[in-house]
Amino acid sequence: MSRFLVTGAAGFIGSNFVRHLLTTTDARVTVLDKLTYAGDRRTLDGLPDDRLTFVHGDICDAEVVDRLVAASDVVVHFAAESHNDNSLSEPWPFVETNIVGTYTLLEAVRRYDTRYHHISTDEVFGDLELDDPERFSEDTPYNPSSPYSSTKAGSDLLVRAWVRSFGVRATISNCSNNYGPFQHVEKFIPRQITNVLDGGRPKLYGQGRNVRDWIHVEDHSSAVLRIAERGEIGATYLIGADGEQNNRDVVELVLELMGRPRDAYDLVTDRAGHDLRYAIDSTRLRTELGWQPRFADFRAGLADTIDWYRANEGWWRGQKAATEAKYAAVGQA
Ligand code: NAD
Ligand code: DAU
Repeated sequence: MSRFLVTGAAGFIGSNFVRHLLTTTDARVTVLDKLTYAGDRRTLDGLPDDRLTFVHGDICDAEVVDRLVAASDVVVHFAAESHNDNSLSEPWPFVETNIVGTYTLLEAVRRYDTRYHHISTDEVFGDLELDDPERFSEDTPYNPSSPYSSTKAGSDLLVRAWVRSFGVRATISNCSNNYGPFQHVEKFIPRQITNVLDGGRPKLYGQGRNVRDWIHVEDHSSAVLRIAERGEIGATYLIGADGEQNNRDVVELVLELMGRPRDAYDLVTDRAGHDLRYAIDSTRLRTELGWQPRFADFRAGLADTIDWYRANEGWWRGQKAATEAKYAAVGQA
């Protein structure tokens, strides 16, 4: 039975991964999470207590990280400052958590020779033109645009250096935009769903023509587990489910599924430096590790996600007003 240390699992993707891990394997899991504004202990409610331990702490705290890594067989590192808009208004927490935090974990896994999987993003590659026939692959050069994506790129490069210089047994994955249950209301899809549930209107940045490559969080979880179990040490895998959509189409679909007119949205101030398009080629993951997405029907996944937010107002309500106040302060509400 493996002992997993999962960082950042009071957040969106980490919590979904821990749920996937506990329901599909007999692993024991320790979660390390700082419970920032983006973390919520309740997100892990209902999971088997006998195989799950929660530790409230910071990945930059070398002592706590050392103690937890020493007692683990595998580390899966999700913890991060994850929201681009926040990184534009206050970059320092991104540098601290994403770079210093990753460094702290790498030094610990190096000491104990612990298997380490590093969660990263397709944003490290920069963006693509709308009509570019190429998609991001493992060979695409890094070219990040925002404080968020540059700190994620920096953390990926630390991992590569620790593999090459110190023989750390690490893998990296770069995934596209996730959606599904337990995503913070600051993010695009939950923001629009909860705006509509509140009787308000979706808010589209710029003209809404930016494209994101959507993947259901459950598919991200199954891919990460596959890589943590079978990935080649030192390798990078791109995770994506061929889900390109422009933001306007997504908002129109949210409105349609929620019984509103498809044009009942507002255009608001664009994001500074807004990446135009992301698109993932996940051939390596599919051919070498045999992974396939199982939730590729975006319309059905979005309808389920809307139902989840409708049924779980108690989970998101406490964050909604403060999140909208932040957007209002920068002309995006
Ligand atoms: P999130 O913001 O929902 O959750 C982040 C979690 O990390 C929170 O629980 C927070 O409390 C915790 N955390 C933050 N700083 C910490 C620290 N210093 N020490 C310990 N815990 C800390 O993020 P998410 O959307 O679930 O993203 C998780 C990971 O996946 C990130 O590494 C992100 O870069 C990556 N990723 C996200 C997406 C996406 O679409 N959301 C896509 C690809 C990759
Ligand atoms: O590509 C992976 C990345 O996806 C992850 O690394 C990040 O952690 C994650 O936050 C996400 O980044 P994005 O910036 O793409 O996600 P966000 O949900 O903030 O925005 C998605 C798109 O929607 C983007 O083009 C901006 C736009 N947008 C966003 C909000 C919040 C709007 O048009 N209106 C909005 O209100």
